[in-house]
Amino acid sequence: MSSLFRKKPLETLSAQSKSKSLARTLSAFDLTLLGIGCVIGTGIFVITGTVAATGAGPALIISFILAGLACALAAFCYAEFSSSIPISGSVYSYSYSYVTLGELLAFLIGWDLMLEYVIALSAVATGWSSYFQSLLAGFNLHIPAALTGAPGSTPGAVFNLPAAVIILLITAIVSRGVKESTRFNNVIVLMKIAIILLFIIVGIGYVKPDNWSPFMPFGMKGVILSAATVFFAYLGFDAVSNASEEVKNPQKNMPVGIISALAVCTVLYIAVSLVLTGMMPYAKLNVGDPVSFALKFVGQDAVAGIISVGAIIGITTVMLALLYAQVRLTFAMSRDGLLPGLFAKVHPSFKTPFRNTWLTGIVAAGIAGFINLGTLAHLVNMGTLAAFTVISIAVIVLRKKHPEIKASFRVPFVPVVPIISAGICIWFMYSLPGVTWLSFVIWIAVGTLVYFLYSRKHSLLNK
Ligand code: ALA
Repeated sequence: MSSLFRKKPLETLSAQSKSKSLARTLSAFDLTLLGIGCVIGTGIFVITGTVAATGAGPALIISFILAGLACALAAFCYAEFSSSIPISGSVYSYSYSYVTLGELLAFLIGWDLMLEYVIALSAVATGWSSYFQSLLAGFNLHIPAALTGAPGSTPGAVFNLPAAVIILLITAIVSRGVKESTRFNNVIVLMKIAIILLFIIVGIGYVKPDNWSPFMPFGMKGVILSAATVFFAYLGFDAVSNASEEVKNPQKNMPVGIISALAVCTVLYIAVSLVLTGMMPYAKLNVGDPVSFALKFVGQDAVAGIISVGAIIGITTVMLALLYAQVRLTFAMSRDGLLPGLFAKVHPSFKTPFRNTWLTGIVAAGIAGFINLGTLAHLVNMGTLAAFTVISIAVIVLRKKHPEIKASFRVPFVPVVPIISAGICIWFMYSLPGVTWLSFVIWIAVGTLVYFLYSRKHSLLNK
């Protein structure tokens, strides 16, 4: 029994984080851009429209504020952890639940995050595919109907080919090394911010306050459900914490990176949701490319075209960062013996977990091909909310059990803030559909089996 609660000693953690084979190349600026790169994507460019049309109406802004609040509180908790013992693996890591909550729970959280990242990668690629196809349609080019989406998404669709192909291309980039990928990421993220500002600046001139009423056509219930859905748009800032072993001066740079990334995204989202719902009647926004659609609606076709291209390139960086996060997570779990050694094998010349990267990319491409965006997004939100709940509780446990750890960033008003954070996450989880709950429970049950059949025996803590 006690082995389920065994924990990794703190001295081992610090030693491990010092003697690492991954190169430390990332600055606070790189991290902020990595965070924004991972956050702004399919959520704001695609899901926003459906949610405005079917769940929130112009009150979309309230849904975004609520979801942003949940993320901000969780981000504080992430920042405290990443500024105490910076080693990779996100909430999973020893510096997180491993140190505070014991091996079984740490494993299950890692397992839960694997669900979050891989499925998020597939979901985001599906959004990319909609903008890509709408751009092609602008040139009167069409992919055969069977290859346009997952079964059930559009008539005749069998497989989402563009989504699967883009994931494999991203895999090729990430598997070649963090340095090249980061530079590539930085340029594109700056362009993505510019595209969103362009939408806000052009769109604001067409806002008619009449479009904002009725403000809450689906009532408060619709707004809450929408908050639990647009929550997807904020995900990714936590992925920054997976990169901590590649960061220069991580104790200082990690909290700055996490919190600035989230702050920039929140401001942009609130502005986009106000402008978008002000530009046209909310009921017409149920399309795959709402942001450029709204611009076409007001006759700004050229700007709409620029935004489509920008969205396609911009959503690409989300996939890049998610794949990056997933690989680092399984890398950390494998190094602990909880997953097979293959995941931690570093390529001799690229210095990356090469095979791990390809394995992840291929699985995500398959999922993106066969499952639709709505189903994927809800599952991702469920997995992430569970992780956020644990990280919030873990802050309280860490403070109690390890008062000697001096984090350079500390969550204010512990335990009140972490309790509110966990409470909001559970509230959002509660509002998600039954089928999402079922899939989540099955995934966690499989994880528990893997732990007892494999990980418990192979854990380095056994030796
Ligand atoms: N937040 C990311 C997106 O919206 C997952 O694409």
